Amino acid sequence: MMKRRNLLAGGAALAAGGAVYAFADSRLTMPMTDAKSRTALRFPPLIDTVNTGKFLVTAQSDTTSFFPGHPAETIGFNQAYLGPVVRMKKGSLRPTVENNLAWPVSSHWHGLLVPGEHDGGPHLAIETGGVWSPDMEIAQEPCTAFFHTHIHGRTARDVYSGLAGVLHVVDGLDRDRGLPESYAVDDLTLLLQDRRFSQDGKLLYANSMMDIMHGMTGETIVVNGQVGAVAAVPKAVVRLRLINGSNARIYSLFSSDDRPIHLIATDGGYLPAPVQLETLRLGPGERAEILVDFSDGNGMSLMSGGDPNAGMGGMMGKARGLLDDITGSRQFEVLPFRVDERLAASVTRIPDAIGGNQPDLRTAEISKVRNFSLDMGMGGGMMGSGGMGRGMMSGMAINGQLFDMSAINERVRLGDTEKWVVSTSMLAHPFHIHGVSFQVFSENGREPRPESLGWKDTVVVDSQTELLVHFTKPASEETPFMYHCHILEHEDAGMMGQFTVS
Ligand code: C2O
Ligand code: CU
Ligand code: CU
Repeated sequence: MMKRRNLLAGGAALAAGGAVYAFADSRLTMPMTDAKSRTALRFPPLIDTVNTGKFLVTAQSDTTSFFPGHPAETIGFNQAYLGPVVRMKKGSLRPTVENNLAWPVSSHWHGLLVPGEHDGGPHLAIETGGVWSPDMEIAQEPCTAFFHTHIHGRTARDVYSGLAGVLHVVDGLDRDRGLPESYAVDDLTLLLQDRRFSQDGKLLYANSMMDIMHGMTGETIVVNGQVGAVAAVPKAVVRLRLINGSNARIYSLFSSDDRPIHLIATDGGYLPAPVQLETLRLGPGERAEILVDFSDGNGMSLMSGGDPNAGMGGMMGKARGLLDDITGSRQFEVLPFRVDERLAASVTRIPDAIGGNQPDLRTAEISKVRNFSLDMGMGGGMMGSGGMGRGMMSGMAINGQLFDMSAINERVRLGDTEKWVVSTSMLAHPFHIHGVSFQVFSENGREPRPESLGWKDTVVVDSQTELLVHFTKPASEETPFMYHCHILEHEDAGMMGQFTVS
């Protein structure tokens, strides 16, 4: 196993400077601050629907000062940037989504197992001044899910500007499982994003050809909409619900002091037992719940390795490095944690078992095998400096086909289990399927990585990944489910398809 400590010299030096990496003069820099003088991380407002079975979110615009005194134009659900955390349980749920923006939005429930007509995908646009209020039924195990706008062609920009929030599906049994469950005390929701800022603190969405090819990354880490914050934790075991809400960045998360990460849940819910990890890879759209033990009273920083799609590892290698010198293979700090002994310590040991259902589709009868090739659609010739024309955008496709709102790409029978073989030749792509929780059968011809072992709806495909997918929710031709790359620039440029389930 690779020892992290030696590698950390560079990362720690960066961490000391805060979450902003100012290698280019033009970028906004943060004053040098130590963890003590940083602002405390805030958590999204919690909307608890457990007793009410309903909630309201309104898409709206406002300004957010990511850097004090530098307001930036942003959008959010019920607030200036991002949205609330909505807690829900099994049973009926009636969301009301209002749109106060001047363009259409939707509210896709990424990770909720609901029929196509409730899914909030591109066919369920809410026009300006409009309201969408589906009568839903939540029927799934506890998990951390995500909601975001999903209008074809503008998902990337609108999510980047803030139109995303978090969902917690709960069953009230976490205390019996021995899991931390106090919102914002020892059960921390962390929506991880990276953003690019102008010198005066405005959000930049460059949308250059490079940003589309690799997906939009930024040099500043933003957690729950805040830059340079520190999270206070009790002297105890803490649960972190990690949501990768970045447009394109793939994180490889680890602790700054080699403290183990105990993975307890993947996208679709709990694992049977905690899995101890040194590094947790989290692609856009993926979620993971981990336990971290702070009972020795010492803080630490959640770090990340560089994005595998950036720097020398990425398709453009050096060319990328010249344009975007913050990423590459550099390690960086995502969020520091400081122990505050005044906070209630309720869980003091990592539980031996969680009791989640292990996916068991390996023995299921496979009705069909489908192949999906994620294509960048450009030859080597186009990678030269002169060759990156606008036409390259149309190269983002699946099986050679650009997304077309009016075409159904696949038709699946309700109740079937299928094997989906997803492959890519360039870059790693986070592949997401709506309306299902799938099992990863193999990755690059091998057993899945530990973080791919549970129920998933999004998985990073480096070369070839085989999925076992059981289809339990219907989707009609009017409101089909999507499958797509969750690098949102790729999705908007056409790396998406749609399927019916009936
Ligand atoms: Cu989170 Cu189809 O997306
Ligand atoms: Cu989704
Ligand atoms: Cu992609």
